[in-house]
Amino acid sequence: MKKICVIGSMNMDLVVTIDRFPRPGETITGKEFATYPGGKGGNQAVALGRLGANVLMVGKLGDDVFGERYIQNLIDNGVSVDGVSIEKGISSGIAVIEVDDAGENNIVIVAGANGRVDRAFIDKNWHLMEERDIFLFQLEIPFDTVFYAVERLKKAGKVIILDPAPARGLPDELLFNVDYITPNETEIEVITGLKIESVEGLYRACDWLIGKGVKNVIAKVGRNGAYLASHDGFVHVAGFSVKAVDTTAAGDSFNAGFAFALAQGKDIIECIQFANAVGAISTTAKGAQSAMPSLEQVEAFVAEQAKDNRK
Ligand code: RIB
Repeated sequence: MKKICVIGSMNMDLVVTIDRFPRPGETITGKEFATYPGGKGGNQAVALGRLGANVLMVGKLGDDVFGERYIQNLIDNGVSVDGVSIEKGISSGIAVIEVDDAGENNIVIVAGANGRVDRAFIDKNWHLMEERDIFLFQLEIPFDTVFYAVERLKKAGKVIILDPAPARGLPDELLFNVDYITPNETEIEVITGLKIESVEGLYRACDWLIGKGVKNVIAKVGRNGAYLASHDGFVHVAGFSVKAVDTTAAGDSFNAGFAFALAQGKDIIECIQFANAVGAISTTAKGAQSAMPSLEQVEAFVAEQAKDNRK
């Protein structure tokens, strides 16, 4: 199995559950409060570790109460932490998350130590990274670092998966180096500047990205699964229907599932099917990393769904 590396953010998620989102200026009473390890990079690494992947995390935590706790959580989930540093004099990344009764969320992040993941840190950890094959990026560390690392890794012949979240415009020079980009509908609108109101609109936006040199666009469409666009065409890969409790990190789980299947040498449609299953399961419990499944859970879920479909 190919070796994977996640270069990205780690946050402590401060989560409140609420009946409904407050309006601007309004105070409402929440139902519960909990802290969970999160951050898009750490989430993807932990999801991969749970599935049984050989995965290295590269990123920074702060010298606060969350830093050591976070590292232990990575280790407990089978993630190699040789590329994780504690940064002095700054807090760990934080995400303040509201989750409503429908399982939808609002997230505000403070970068903290994630903001100090710079080019020098990539160079320092290069000896660990060059032994790896597949690399996952998100956009919660400085963009300059993502740009630099992707370019250097691509020159070294590595496979690049980019989850463009939080969304922002992306330069052509970056897109050209990306093998798999995995935006949701909002993110693809921000990146392309095209409004998506139909499948045809989504197709046009995917085609725009392919025109920029991205090899494969995997557009996530929530419970409807995903669309794959490449030079070979545009296909829908159906999702799974589950009762969502908390959709936080569903996209991270999807990306981890995709990378895991890719590392096993599965074809791209099988990778997306597996990713859809991992993403769906992750919405059925509270929290980001706390909801991520093991390989056995994914296999049991897929078998159960197939049985239901035959009924
Ligand atoms: O993708 C979900 C993640 O986004 C949360 O865990 C939070 O930390 C934010 O980074």
